[in-house]
Amino acid sequence: MMNRREWLTSSAALAGAATAAAGQSGKGKKPIAISSPNGLAACAKAVQVMQAGGDTLDAVIAGVNILELDPNDTSVGYGGLPNEEGEVELDASVMHGPTRRAGSVAAIHGIKTPSKIAKLVMDHTTHVMLVGEGATKFAVAHGYQREDLLTEKARTAWLVWKESLRSPGGFNNWTSFDKNLRADAEPPFERLRESFPNVNEETLQWAWHMANHPTYGTINCLGLNEKGEISGVTTTSGLAWKIPGRIGDSPIIGAGLFVDPDVGGAGSTGVGELNIRVAGGHTIVEAMRRGVHPREAVLEALKRVSKLFNDDKPMLSKLGIEFYALRTDGEYAAGSLWKSTGDYQAFAVNDGGESRLEKPVFLYEK
Ligand code: GLY
Repeated sequence: MMNRREWLTSSAALAGAATAAAGQSGKGKKPIAISSPNGLAACAKAVQVMQAGGDTLDAVIAGVNILELDPNDTSVGYGGLPNEEGEVELDASVMHGPTRRAGSVAAIHGIKTPSKIAKLVMDHTTHVMLVGEGATKFAVAHGYQREDLLTEKARTAWLVWKESLRSPGGFNNWTSFDKNLRADAEPPFERLRESFPNVNEETLQWAWHMANHPTYGTINCLGLNEKGEISGVTTTSGLAWKIPGRIGDSPIIGAGLFVDPDVGGAGSTGVGELNIRVAGGHTIVEAMRRGVHPREAVLEALKRVSKLFNDDKPMLSKLGIEFYALRTDGEYAAGSLWKSTGDYQAFAVNDGGESRLEKPVFLYEK
């Protein structure tokens, strides 16, 4: 349970979000796209496509393709941080509101744009979800190239992670005896500079940070056109250094994404395992169906996440999760478990022109 101060703080945030969100889009109004904060360009693209008369799902997929194809984005698509074996393994799902259909791929390898393959599953099969090698073969059958998705930057971060692992005795097979013996005695950057002489300092510092703070990345993007049609997509390279075969919430219909054309859509970023356990996307859409505003709906899902740990805040303080919700009348919101979770203290919105960042509501403040 939140204490009184937390509730007041949260309520104040709600009031701010309400002002920002007030009736800007919806049926007969202008197209709108919202996403996680990494989606400023994605939302702009999605709105452009919708303004040109494009389908809402084509619009949000075109948006997230920007990140999937960007080698410098290390949490989505090509260039994503790999699994523990150094292989990039991607998850994505799509839902097309107008036809109430869904498609998804999980643990797919070698294809830069898993969101497009999720749509292919939706359009060209009777299935909803394909995983692993079956998903890659399906993409290849449809003319996609199997490519190496591991960029030099992501490979460096993976190797730095491998070097950072130590037995209780301090040993690691991925470094020399000399460096093993020095491991406790000096800051890691001396050793890392020796191990990666061609990698610049900025990349090394980043790689060390990623090795010690593996991310969940992800983009969720929801798009609503002027006819009130809505679709959504969620795509990710998932948890960095995961066990091969680990699937997060992003490809799970009802968790990382859910769209009901009668109500709206919702999606998530952050620790996917938490979201799967509360079916967050579905929970939010069902709350909105009861007439709850998106900002209260995302808080409802966050409270369910909190309950997974009996509202144990010290334990929850190690976890991060964010939800995004867009109703078919154009009302929207995002919510974060914690007020201070770095980059995720915002979400992206575009309803024409430049995209902007807005503040999410939050359940707890540290
Ligand atoms: N939310 C992304 C993941 O857990 O893989």
